[in-house]
Amino acid sequence: MKVAIIGTGYVGLTTGVCLAYIGHLVTCVDIDPAKLELLQRRKSPIHEPGLEELLGTVWNRIGFTSDTSASVADADVIMIAVGTPSKPTGQADNRYVEEAAREVAQGLQPGRNYVLVIKSTVPIGTNRRVVHVVDQVLASRGLKGEIMVRVASNPEFLSEGTALRNMFYPDRIVVGAEDPGSVEILRRLYRPILEQTFDPPPFLPRPEGYDLPPLITTDPVSAEMIKYAANAFLAMKISFINEIAGLCEKVGADVTEVARGIGLDPRIGPRFLEAGLGWGGSCFPKDTAALIAMGRELSYPLRLVEAAREVNTLQRERAVEKLQETLKGVRGRVIGVLGLAFKPGTDDVRESPSLDIIRLLLEREAHVRAHDPVAMANARKALRNAEVEFIEDPYELANGADALVLATAWPEYRQLDLRKLAKTMRTPVLLDGRNLLDPAEAREAGFIYLGVGRQ
Ligand code: UDX
Repeated sequence: MKVAIIGTGYVGLTTGVCLAYIGHLVTCVDIDPAKLELLQRRKSPIHEPGLEELLGTVWNRIGFTSDTSASVADADVIMIAVGTPSKPTGQADNRYVEEAAREVAQGLQPGRNYVLVIKSTVPIGTNRRVVHVVDQVLASRGLKGEIMVRVASNPEFLSEGTALRNMFYPDRIVVGAEDPGSVEILRRLYRPILEQTFDPPPFLPRPEGYDLPPLITTDPVSAEMIKYAANAFLAMKISFINEIAGLCEKVGADVTEVARGIGLDPRIGPRFLEAGLGWGGSCFPKDTAALIAMGRELSYPLRLVEAAREVNTLQRERAVEKLQETLKGVRGRVIGVLGLAFKPGTDDVRESPSLDIIRLLLEREAHVRAHDPVAMANARKALRNAEVEFIEDPYELANGADALVLATAWPEYRQLDLRKLAKTMRTPVLLDGRNLLDPAEAREAGFIYLGVGRQ
């Protein structure tokens, strides 16, 4: 099938590359010339394991352009995957989705049938709105009734760092549409994934015991809601374990043991029960805020989601309080922060707990040093007006420091020589904000070890 994808961010690019891999002809559209220039040189603008390699593999089936009209004219499926940034009210801003829909509608050709898929995470009701926007443009072109455009919602569930795996081996594919015709076209589009008939990329073998993913077909409003509810639930799950972690500290329990003990109950499940500094990234903060704003708009407060956000903010504050207590104040202390990305496996620092903690420490007049294996450049940009010393070598970062904060669970931090780190510090305090290290080992190496929810 011929597919045009508007927006080559995380979602658009990953989707495009994977659809090309399973045999479709894909054109990715973006307005950012710098991004297009990179992509045309087969370089990925984002750090996502395997993406660049796969881009090279599918090069004869994928193209990149800024020309929406030309790309959509002969497409069978057009996907909108542009950003929906937060407004000051927390609502997701639909502006770019609408603009994209308008541009798409300008390029559609008479006598053809199209399925227009909304992949962006959009406020509930947006699919309806897009139908209206497209109709208006077609009417203004005098082509109403001559072009068939069916709008469908197809939310994505990609996690950064595992986006390709999530795309090739999804838990489910959700399609929300009013008419069975568009569902059938999307079923065809995803058939190689639904039936797992593609040859897996060599670096991404099919997971053992992986079952064929179900195609969930529903109405557009429910599909839009599925995306928000999934992210809000996961954010709540993490906040729940973080809240329990705080109580574990008060009573002397170990939250990692508690998580193991409750996670084995299949009704609860073991994942997303890692206590730490809380969640960040481009989805959970934005989507929970949008859901709350939607509730407010409809006089239906979402109390659990609100509480999840509060607990998440508190997690950062508690970490700084712990340092203050242990160091008897952080003013003038040298604090080394290990990890800037919002989670390991990505260079994304959006809403990163680490950056929040750095800002809190700077407010309290600590001197901050920072390190990350891949996210240093992005963190420099995000913290450009802040007084932070970026250091390439964790051992140099620890030298003379009063405390270390391990803020991102990068596997390489597990390999650090703790003895060597502790030895050069002024006071060997280690706040393990991700419970990454073995407390006994850290103590043996000479650290005053502070975990989250464990002793
Ligand atoms: C998330 C969803 O998982 C994905 O389905 C959705 O489409 C987009 O948002 P992502 O933001 O890439 O994906 O990251 P995810 O792996 O979900 O982690 C989010 C945050 O939660 C990270 O800051 C992570 O460190 C934190 N986290 C996760 C925890 O603190 N504890 C956990 O147990 C799991």
